[in-house]
Amino acid sequence: MHIRLNAAALVLCISSCGLALADIQQRADANLLDRCPGYKIDHFGKVKHGFDATLELAGAPCNVYGKDILSLILSVRFDTKDRLHVHIRDSAGKQYQIPHSVIPLDIGSGVSESSSNLKFSYFHDPKTGFGFEVHRGTDVIFDTTGHPLIFEDQYLEITSSLPRNANIYGIGESPDYFRRDSSNTTKTLWNRDAADPFRENVYGSHSVYMELRQGLFHGAYLHNSHGMDIVLANDTIQYRVLGGTADFYFFAGTSALAVIDQYTELVGRPNQIPYWSLGFHNCRYGYKSVYEVNEVIANYSSANIPLEVAWTDIDYMDKTRDFTFDLVNFPLSEMQKQLQTLHERKQKMVLIIDPAILHSSSYPTYVRGHDLDVFIKNADGTEYIGQVWPGYTVFPDWFAPNTDKWWHGELQQCFDQLQIDGMWIDMNEASSFCTGSCGSGKPDDEIPPYPWLLESVEPPHRKINTTDKYLVPPYAIHNPLPEISDKTIETTAVHANGIIEYHVHNLYGYMESRTTRDFLLRHRPNERPFLLSRSTFSGSGALANHWTGDNAATWQDLHLSIASVFDFGIFGIPMVGADICGFNGNTTEELCARWIELGAFYPFSRDHNAIGMVPQELYRWDSVAEASRRALNVRYSLLPYFYTMYQHSVELGWPVARPLVFEFPGIPAVIDNDRQMLIGDGILVSPVLQKGAVSVDAFFPSGRWYDWYTFVEITGSSSNITLSAPLEHVNVHIRGGKIIATQPPALTTAEAREHDFSLLVATDYHGTASGELFVDDGQTLSSDHRWVQFEYADQALRIDHRSEGSFAIQQRISRIVLLGVPDIGMVFVNNIPAVSKISSKNGSIVICDLKIDINNATTISFL
Ligand code: NOJ
Repeated sequence: MHIRLNAAALVLCISSCGLALADIQQRADANLLDRCPGYKIDHFGKVKHGFDATLELAGAPCNVYGKDILSLILSVRFDTKDRLHVHIRDSAGKQYQIPHSVIPLDIGSGVSESSSNLKFSYFHDPKTGFGFEVHRGTDVIFDTTGHPLIFEDQYLEITSSLPRNANIYGIGESPDYFRRDSSNTTKTLWNRDAADPFRENVYGSHSVYMELRQGLFHGAYLHNSHGMDIVLANDTIQYRVLGGTADFYFFAGTSALAVIDQYTELVGRPNQIPYWSLGFHNCRYGYKSVYEVNEVIANYSSANIPLEVAWTDIDYMDKTRDFTFDLVNFPLSEMQKQLQTLHERKQKMVLIIDPAILHSSSYPTYVRGHDLDVFIKNADGTEYIGQVWPGYTVFPDWFAPNTDKWWHGELQQCFDQLQIDGMWIDMNEASSFCTGSCGSGKPDDEIPPYPWLLESVEPPHRKINTTDKYLVPPYAIHNPLPEISDKTIETTAVHANGIIEYHVHNLYGYMESRTTRDFLLRHRPNERPFLLSRSTFSGSGALANHWTGDNAATWQDLHLSIASVFDFGIFGIPMVGADICGFNGNTTEELCARWIELGAFYPFSRDHNAIGMVPQELYRWDSVAEASRRALNVRYSLLPYFYTMYQHSVELGWPVARPLVFEFPGIPAVIDNDRQMLIGDGILVSPVLQKGAVSVDAFFPSGRWYDWYTFVEITGSSSNITLSAPLEHVNVHIRGGKIIATQPPALTTAEAREHDFSLLVATDYHGTASGELFVDDGQTLSSDHRWVQFEYADQALRIDHRSEGSFAIQQRISRIVLLGVPDIGMVFVNNIPAVSKISSKNGSIVICDLKIDINNATTISFL
């Protein structure tokens, strides 16, 4: 028995709060940890919108992975009615915390405890000391009682109980199945350049999860930039963090979309993307010249496959140096011509930039940066040297006062020569091929060749001083390399504010995204930037978009790509996709065909390939070309819908690509479904993910579902249905109850946008349906807009608008398809008989030749 205290009263706790800590420690030092005394709470008091208290170490320090901090401050704030902030920090304020100037978290307006959907209570257990619970109604959604809080300078341990077989989603970046294995998962958060190894840590860090219990979701986020392990085992979630503070936010949900809304309200809403970025993108590493890229662009066009954006990788650079052009193979004048031609055809160009800067006194970018003192340093004040594509390199220090100015200046010179449409920032974990500051440290050190282009050659490895507590922290997170500094910037490297890399490593890509986006905004004020970043952190979605890095051309990675896209939906970065057809390894015709059939529905849809691999542009094989035309035709028809769904992302954080469990949380059969993908809430894609398969088993939650191509209604929903899926076909279904606006496809998004709309009115069993359409100019930040609303009931379709916005939509509704309704003979628009052509197809009614102005409230009746 121990004492339970909460704001109002002392309550007796007779629950089995004291779970044995040893159960969850599967480490040699479990016994040592068992001696950690936990904390005593004192001075608990009410303040505006919350509580404050102090915590004092309850016994002799255990000093297991650092030094126990004796005195802590607890603050609890009801930020909003659905968000509770619980922060435990050292009283001395010495532990590193992410500054608000780096990640401007929303602080909320503050609500009273009584109006909050979450409640807080705390406990004192004689053995384990202070613990707390977060309640939503009668449900305890976070519960640290019975697990001592360990708060050391280099190690925090916080443990919360979970139900048996908990449904946990999120925590990454880590290629894995969507529903994490709650009995045995360790997710390490330490940004790492690694080619998507299964279940390991890769490029970004997102310490946020969602849990589904009895049909309701809630969420939790730990705001901390340090390396950490988050361990799911023995019915607990345990955070093992290399420093900082225990800065938790809890989200009440209760739907999945509500949790993501609450999370992105805190860390930042997804950035507004230009419409064109929803088109199809082609890239590869290893194009030999601008002429080859020209051919690729032309080949897409002659194969009649949409191509919106031509990307060029580091090949365009002079000896892979940023802000330069290869004079022979990618001369600037030819790049300019290519860009002009692309623009004439309403296509776009995106180029790559890496953060690593060649350390050479004859490289002006380096010299200017050096003069402005913008590079990360060694402890002795010299520049920290790494090794990336161009040879020995330095790394911009995004904390240094002049870095933004210098980076913007370099980008400006580049943009003065070539007005590219978007930017791709890569290698920003940051990746470095040697361990520790390497080379002689002097500029113009002999530039090593690039053996690391051949995967089998290991980069030079300097042995690390293992006595340094930041190079080899006492607790070893499960970063699968010998040292945490391997393949990145050493943890003792120093930033301008005196902070060492150890504390801020995971922020590197986030900070590069911020300054790069700032440049794009300054360069073209009012135009929506398009930025793709490999490394991300919580809040990156406000700045950049993401692809899932160096996957492999394997069936396994095809499948896992769906979960990764879902993960980034939770992380607030909904504009995401995987390299279509696979990056590393040679793809095959069949795999590539199946991949574009899925990839055509990734929010960010790009084919990308590694150097030395067989070419995999979509026109290379007849079957792939055919599969691409068909799948991309569906995508391009759905562009207005994708864009509308993305606007929900911008306003509410909602992901575009969603797992079935987000929409049908009450159906146990879908809790781990990461083989099908919903677009918004109305389109279900059921791709083939298995070699040799010509059918696919797909789950259809109860309700009505209509085949995209034939309009035929599925029979026997709420079960797995085997759908025919010949090689060039991907199954797509429309959910009954939804109204979806489409436009006839074209080879570019600009062309498709010109076309009149069709409305797919897919009725449910009540004969009703509804939907929305968001329209604006698709490119400026200040664009006026219009939200059009559709409601179908009693054989009438009503078109109305949200009161906000008055964007004049030029395109008309020329076609309406009614799915699942009885026959009709006449159409009336605002009670006047309409001139139209009515036909039926597989039990659906197709009405053509309409000319309905979408800007006015209108009623269309079908009799
Ligand atoms: C690593 C990136 O992940 C990959 O997409 C790119 O092609 C190479 N770097 C070369 O720039």
